[in-house]
Amino acid sequence: MIHFESDYLEGAHPKILERLVETNMDKTEGYGEDPYCASARDKIRKACDCPNAAIYFLVGGTQTNSTVIKALLRSFEGVMDAPSGHISCHEAGAIEAGGHKVFPLPSVDGKISGEEVDKFMKAFLADGNRDHMVRPGMVYISQPTEYGTLYTKKELEELSKVCRAHKIPLFMDGARLGYGLAASCNDVTLPDIARLCDIFYIGGTKVGALFGEALVMPDPDLIPDFFPMIKQMGASLAKGRLLGIQFETLFTDDLYFKISKHAIEMADKLEQGLKDKGYKFYINSPTNQKFIIVDNGKLEELGKSIFYEYVEAYDDGHTVIRFCTSWATAEEDLDKLLALL
Ligand SMILES: Cc1ncc(COP(=O)(O)O)c(C=O)c1O
Repeated sequence: MIHFESDYLEGAHPKILERLVETNMDKTEGYGEDPYCASARDKIRKACDCPNAAIYFLVGGTQTNSTVIKALLRSFEGVMDAPSGHISCHEAGAIEAGGHKVFPLPSVDGKISGEEVDKFMKAFLADGNRDHMVRPGMVYISQPTEYGTLYTKKELEELSKVCRAHKIPLFMDGARLGYGLAASCNDVTLPDIARLCDIFYIGGTKVGALFGEALVMPDPDLIPDFFPMIKQMGASLAKGRLLGIQFETLFTDDLYFKISKHAIEMADKLEQGLKDKGYKFYINSPTNQKFIIVDNGKLEELGKSIFYEYVEAYDDGHTVIRFCTSWATAEEDLDKLLALL
């Protein structure tokens, strides 16, 4: 059997494990107050060209999304998202369980636009019953999206402009941000994101870390008393240095960018191989996730030798599936996959 179903199949990049072993017997303060977290924060601030940013390390994506959204919204507010967005589809209702409505906005290729946010906000403001309704209080996007697509700089600028005009924060989930930054068509940099988003995270779990997400708040005053909120959500790791060590390593010598680039090189080769074999793509994803439409009979046969991710039924006879490459994809495994396809 060969595995291409996701980008979190392996443990961690060996350099991270080496650093964890080297520092294992150090004694440090907990909850992110240690020198490794401080150094990781400095490196991330530099990479984002954002010297004043507040940076927090959390453990996983769903936890980070629910913590940020809970901290930003008042009890009667909700969050706007694409209908395919991670918080809408794949977090078992974590946002709703936290007491907040998720508003699905019209989207194209998994992306929402500044224009749709503006329309939604204006319709809400024009509604005479608005004080009896859930107020749209923030926007959630992910880069890459759930379909592996990317917001361009222009699209992000438009979203940012509309959010700022309506005085609502723009939150970017970057669980796979490295793979977005490394894509050859990408024109958005970390400093662009820090300039255009009010809060975002740099994903580690899917990009070389054992676990961890680095949450960046360019304006440190965006959420007063954020640490106790993280704590209350159970999202603060006592041995916080494990997160600091991982992000310090990822942001040393451009490791995060180099390993992301590798995943994209493997993904580009996978895409070409799928095209050569005549597979039909569900969507054009320039990042590390590739979505194809497969005949159900063929899928049963593939399932005997390949682990893939089920995405959705396409029609009665076809299914959309996903293959992922990652920082750890070995080229010989990719060749084996292509031979089996
Ligand atoms: C875009 C995005 N955000 C958040 C998450 C959630 O991560 P976790 O499963 O670690 O909670 C994922 C996981 O697949 C994701 O793809």
